Amino acid sequence: MFERVRPRNLEDFEEPRMVPLGGHLFGACFFLMKLLPARFMLKRAVERGQLAPGGTICESSSGTFALALAMLSVLNGYRLLIVGDWALDRNLRRRLLQLGAELDIVEEPHPIGGFQLARLERLQEHLRRRPGSYWPAQYYNEDNPISYSKVAACFIDAVGPIDCLVGTVGSGGSMCGTARYLRMLFPDLTVIGVDTHNSVLFGQPNAPRKVSGLGGGIVPANVDHTQFDEIHWLPASEIMASAHDLHGRHGLFMGPTSGAAFRVARWWSDSNPGKTVVAIFPDEGHRYADTVYDEAWLESSIPGWNGTRMEEPTAVSSPTVDMTSWAKYPWRRRNLSDVLGDLPPRI
Ligand SMILES: Cc1ncc(COP(=O)(O)O)c(C=O)c1O
Repeated sequence: MFERVRPRNLEDFEEPRMVPLGGHLFGACFFLMKLLPARFMLKRAVERGQLAPGGTICESSSGTFALALAMLSVLNGYRLLIVGDWALDRNLRRRLLQLGAELDIVEEPHPIGGFQLARLERLQEHLRRRPGSYWPAQYYNEDNPISYSKVAACFIDAVGPIDCLVGTVGSGGSMCGTARYLRMLFPDLTVIGVDTHNSVLFGQPNAPRKVSGLGGGIVPANVDHTQFDEIHWLPASEIMASAHDLHGRHGLFMGPTSGAAFRVARWWSDSNPGKTVVAIFPDEGHRYADTVYDEAWLESSIPGWNGTRMEEPTAVSSPTVDMTSWAKYPWRRRNLSDVLGDLPPRI
């Protein structure tokens, strides 16, 4: 007798595969993490009457959120306009176009808010010209963090009680949403956010960055700073090297933000034996085959790629100090204003 295979739809790909990485460390490997918040936001928009059948979606994104929206737009018959920037690489641009999305690429950064703010300003122009179109607004739409209840439930099902959650922070949705739900059951959960140098999210001065997906030039409203116990900043070279480690040691071919989470989670897990740690790995590595996984590109584009790796972070006395290597700071679940006083631009 043949056992019938259950047909699978895109929703089945929203749940991560929980991979043991030695000791009590687990990697939550997503095919494309942003499918979950994107589907949830669109569903809620339809329920609220903000998105009609055949309607137009406009969003600012240079990465996986754009891809998730494009996949869902094809399946549900929406039109999609994406405002992106340099981080929308050639392959991703091609994929978005093949999925029927319209692209508008911003070439110049905003003098204060960098590319992120420049993209948002351009998006406002498009929204004015297309009345009735829907803007998911992943940076401040509360449905983004809310959608991660499903992820928190999946973590608990797979590994039981959790002591520490580690992940990168971009819009803030994944880490803050998951942390909020997990803390309902585990109030002592340690939450560690991973950012990169020159990102204003946790107080670094804004300057060009080499890695997309984490950090930013403006602080999204969905970053709830009070969720974080500790913040780490990694330079691009450590992030790339760690993505290679994840592949070389565990056979997991994941994107650079997964590498960033892995680096910090591995260190915390080694320093806290017996504690259960979950690290969020948001996407697979295929999109980065010509960059993160290409030696020639790494040598020409990533300062310090051939340098020595750090075994552990350096503790810094303030998040605003000049950073050149892996740094950590005890955030202690405080507001941004409590830590910094002087606030960077916020959306
Ligand atoms: C590849 C990748 N990793 C991590 C993140 C950060 O996730 P979040 O926006 O939920 O903070 C993003 C955000 O766009 C991303 O594209």
